[in-house]
Amino acid sequence: MTWRPVSVSLLLLFALSLVSPSRSVAGDEGEQVFLGNCTLCHTADRARAKHLTRGEWQQIINRMIGFGCPIRTSSQNQEAVLEYLAQTQGPVVPTATRAYVVNEGSEDVWVIDVPSRRVLAKVKVGQLPHGIAVSPDGKAVYVTNQGSDNITVINTETYVAHTMGATGRNPHASVVSPDGRFLYVSNPSSNNVTVHDMTTHASVATVSVGRFPHGVTMSPDGKRVYVAEMDGNAIAVIDTATNQVVATIPTAAGPHRMAVTPDGKVLYVVNADAGRLSIIDMEHGREIKSVLVGKTPFDIVLDSTRSILWVANSGSESVEAVDSRTAQVLATVPVAGSPQVLALTPDGKELWVADMTANTVTIVDTDRRKVVTTLPVGTEPHLIVIGP
Ligand code: HEC
Repeated sequence: MTWRPVSVSLLLLFALSLVSPSRSVAGDEGEQVFLGNCTLCHTADRARAKHLTRGEWQQIINRMIGFGCPIRTSSQNQEAVLEYLAQTQGPVVPTATRAYVVNEGSEDVWVIDVPSRRVLAKVKVGQLPHGIAVSPDGKAVYVTNQGSDNITVINTETYVAHTMGATGRNPHASVVSPDGRFLYVSNPSSNNVTVHDMTTHASVATVSVGRFPHGVTMSPDGKRVYVAEMDGNAIAVIDTATNQVVATIPTAAGPHRMAVTPDGKVLYVVNADAGRLSIIDMEHGREIKSVLVGKTPFDIVLDSTRSILWVANSGSESVEAVDSRTAQVLATVPVAGSPQVLALTPDGKELWVADMTANTVTIVDTDRRKVVTTLPVGTEPHLIVIGP
């Protein structure tokens, strides 16, 4: 048997540990124990920024004991180091986020904890709930009930719901202003957008738009609301200072939902009837590109950090990743049923897809572009948002 340097040093340390057992220190002095025992054979950096679980740290400590780490003589010190490492070099915990899924059939909203996928609450809302928006501070969600022509406000701390209204006919989608003050609701059966003051809960304006307004989106500066006129084949632009339509931009057939870049310069629109994605230059108010996507694309979200658009093709049972700069389709991920609406987690790592006919939410890993899991939800999930 040949002796290698590491084995020699291990033997030396072993001998050392017999004559000078490691100091017994408890609690917040874990760092002292760590420095006194774990830097004898390698630097402390060996253990830094590893982000391991408590169980994984336990295994490493056991391995180090096998190598002759002097900590072997004191179970108290082993505990202290384990505690220190678990607390300072633990897994990176994503900030808590909740997904709100609106179920049109069961007329409720399911609140799901994103990291654990646990259902936190099921809240009854109005009739045929269709759209949902989260207030910028995350303290309330607003549900548009197209069967009862009103809005349900859910307090996200208590999950208590109350009703406000009235909207136009069959309120569909909504968007909140960046300061949280106003909610803009599209009403496809009365061809208008109603504006609601969320501090007084009063309806403050009604703006007439083209036929069958569906998706509503806000410019990041809060100065414009974009309304997809599904039967008008155009986007209406509302000035939020005057609540007047200031422009109408033609698109391909059936504009449904939209996404806007953080600088507000480009608007992406999925056209459900044409199966196309319209890319609109908002500085000049015109379409600059139209790209073929899957069948009946109903929703679109933009991951601006990665420059990727995700499109839900409800007619071809897939979600598609599209390069937002070149409009090239990068990947198609099959999602069975009728994938209709999308939400991205704030870190962009997961895409949540609500599937109206399968009564599920499918979670896609956006880096690997693969389905990770499928969660059962209420009946006919129609919209999903992820908030704080
Ligand atoms: C007797 C010498 C010795 C002592 C004392 C020692 N280690 Fe190590 N450690 C090693 C050796 C040898 C390796 C490289 C072999 C390996 O990676 O398994 C290593 C590797 C590691 C690694 C890298 C393992 C990986 O999976 O990448 C970590 C982390 C670590 N030690 C933590 C500790 C901690 C924490 C302590 C104190 C409780 C400690 N070490 C004390 C010898 C020691």
